Order: sequence, then C-alpha cells, then structure tokens
Amino acid sequence: MAQDVTYDGIMQTATGFWASKVLLSAVELGVFGALAAGPLDAASLRSRLGLHERAARDFLDALVAQRFLCRDDAGRYGNSPEAARFLDPAQPDYVGGIVEMLNARLYGFWGSLTEALRTGAPQNEAKSGGDLFATLYADPARLEGFARAMTGQSIPVADALADAFPWKDIGSVIDIGAAQGCVPVRLALRYPHLRAGGFDLPEVEPIFSRFAAAHGVSDRVRFVAGNFFRDELPSADVLVMGLILHDWDLPTKCMLIGKAHAALPPGGSLIVYEMLIDDERRTHLPGLLMSLNMLIETRGGFDYTGADCIGWMREAGFSETSVVTLTGSHSAVIGTRQ
Ligand SMILES: C[S@@+](CC[C@H](N)C(=O)[O-])C[C@H]1O[C@@H](n2cnc3c(N)ncnc32)[C@H](O)[C@@H]1O
Repeated sequence: MAQDVTYDGIMQTATGFWASKVLLSAVELGVFGALAAGPLDAASLRSRLGLHERAARDFLDALVAQRFLCRDDAGRYGNSPEAARFLDPAQPDYVGGIVEMLNARLYGFWGSLTEALRTGAPQNEAKSGGDLFATLYADPARLEGFARAMTGQSIPVADALADAFPWKDIGSVIDIGAAQGCVPVRLALRYPHLRAGGFDLPEVEPIFSRFAAAHGVSDRVRFVAGNFFRDELPSADVLVMGLILHDWDLPTKCMLIGKAHAALPPGGSLIVYEMLIDDERRTHLPGLLMSLNMLIETRGGFDYTGADCIGWMREAGFSETSVVTLTGSHSAVIGTRQ
C-alpha cells in the first residue's frame, strides 16, 4: 500500500460543512460587527453575542484557527484584516450578504443534494413548482436578501472587471440582470464619465434605486425595467451578464446571447462572467460546485466552460472572443460584435 496516501483530504472534505457553518453562524450572530470598534475579551464578546458559556470558547477559537478572528496575549478577540474589510456590515466591501443567504437558504437546501442528484429537480422554495425568481420575488424581504447576496458575491468581481476592461474608451454600459446594481454602481464610482445602467425585473427597481442613492450615483446609474423573456435588451456600448446564463437551460442561454448581440452596436461587447469551469472539467471546483448549486436552485440551469461560452457567442455572431480571469473563482468571456 502506498505510504504517502492518507485520509486527510477525505476527512477535510467530509467535515467541510462544520467549518462552513462556523463562519455562517458567525455572520448570523454578528460577530464581526461586534468587533468592528475594537477587540473585546471573551466574557464581553460572549454576552454581546448571547452565546452559551459551553459554546463560546470553542466557537471563537475555531474562528481564530480559521483566521477570521485574532486573539491577543491578553485573550481579547479582534477581527482579522480579511474579516475587518469584508465581514463587518458597516464596511463598503461587506460581502456578508452572500454568506447570509448561504446560511438562511442554501445550507438547508444542500441537505437535499442526494434527492436533486436522483431527480434533477430543484430543492429550494421552487421544489413544489414554479420558478426561483417568481417565488423569491413574491416576498419583498426575500427579494431584498437575495439582491444583497448578489452584491456580496459580486463586489470583488466588479472591482476586477473595472481593472480588466478598457472602460476609459467606453461611453455606456448596462448590466443585464443587475439585482441591487453592484456592478454598474462600482463601475460608475471608478469611471465618472461612464453612463451606467442596470436592467432587471420591475420589482427590483426600489432596491436598485436605494443602492445607487446610497453610493451617490443616482444621476449616473439608471434602472431599466424589463423582462428578458418578453422584451428586447436595452442598447449600450457594453452589456454585462454576470451569473445570469448559468440560471437557465441551453436554449435560454443562446436566446439571451442572441438578444445581447442584437442590442449591441457594431464594435460593442458582451461581457459574461461566471465561476467558469475549466475547459477540461477537472480542476476548477468552485465552478463545478456552482453548477451543482444551479441544480439545487433552478429547473434547467448549469455552469459551463469558457470554451462552451465562446462557442455559443460565435454561433450568435460575435467575431472576437476571449476569456479573462477576474478573481480566484470568477472569469469573464468577452465577445465583440463586428
Ligand atoms: C443570479 S442574479 C445575478 C445578479 C448580478 N448580475 C450579479 O452578478 O450579482 C440573476 C438576476 O437576474 C434577474 N432576472 C431573473 N429573471 C429575469 C428576467 N426574466 N428579466 C430580467 N431580469 C431577470 C434577477 O432578478 C436577478 O437580479
């Protein structure tokens, strides 16, 4: 038997949900907000968070081992630099919206993964019929939570996108399926000359408008209400589709790419970003897991490789296509219309 084969990887993956749930509960309990003003000793933090005496030490020290908290020699807990920037709800780069949604919705739904694997059917609010967005959007609080989650996951992607494309030469951009508007708002903040917009279902408008106003860009970032099944897409120099195509089956993906092509002027570009799967479908675990998440969340959605997307774009008529890495997990496919 090979001596260098161990079971460590098996155990790490098998218990991965323990580690995940510690972080999800920490965000739910407000650990990082409680430490935003500075370190606290264990007793003060425990009473602030309402933790049981038996639970507090292991929970907080697990967060230290995960490097989301630091503990000094006096035993006081503080936020790590990563947590201070991304997990304190008062910070502009707060990504906890997606963590909140993972905790409130997907942690439970993923418990039915085996059923999804056997049936191919969603395991979320749409399990008994209907479409995810219709179900979510029937309840304003859920809609707001979902839109906030989208911002949480898109902040680092939007910032990488701001660096990865020659926006200085672009006049206008519209994000198709913009949710709160994280991408157009962050692009507009970086490039004041840019006329930016977000296209989404009419129910999303108040959430989008509040987000643009909170960032002081209401005059430069507009909301375009529409339904991409019924309506043509609005025109702009650049259209963005972030985490949109993976929600739908192949005919719908191709329909949306075709509508984008029709809406773009000559020389205009479509930027599609996702957790793209590597072309060999062997290594990029985040993309493969996101695709399984689409199995849980949607009726026909799936993630795909850069090569897949380039093929669909070329069929729709895009002439130049390329793949650009944005973050450790997300990449973009850029197609330009002749
Ligand atoms: C997964 S979210 C992506 C959000 C955002 N692009 C991002 O990356 O953070 C999908 C978005 O598509 C929007 N959407 C769903 N169905 C739509 C439709 N028929 N027409 C327009 N937008 C739709 C949803 O409201 C939601 O904001």
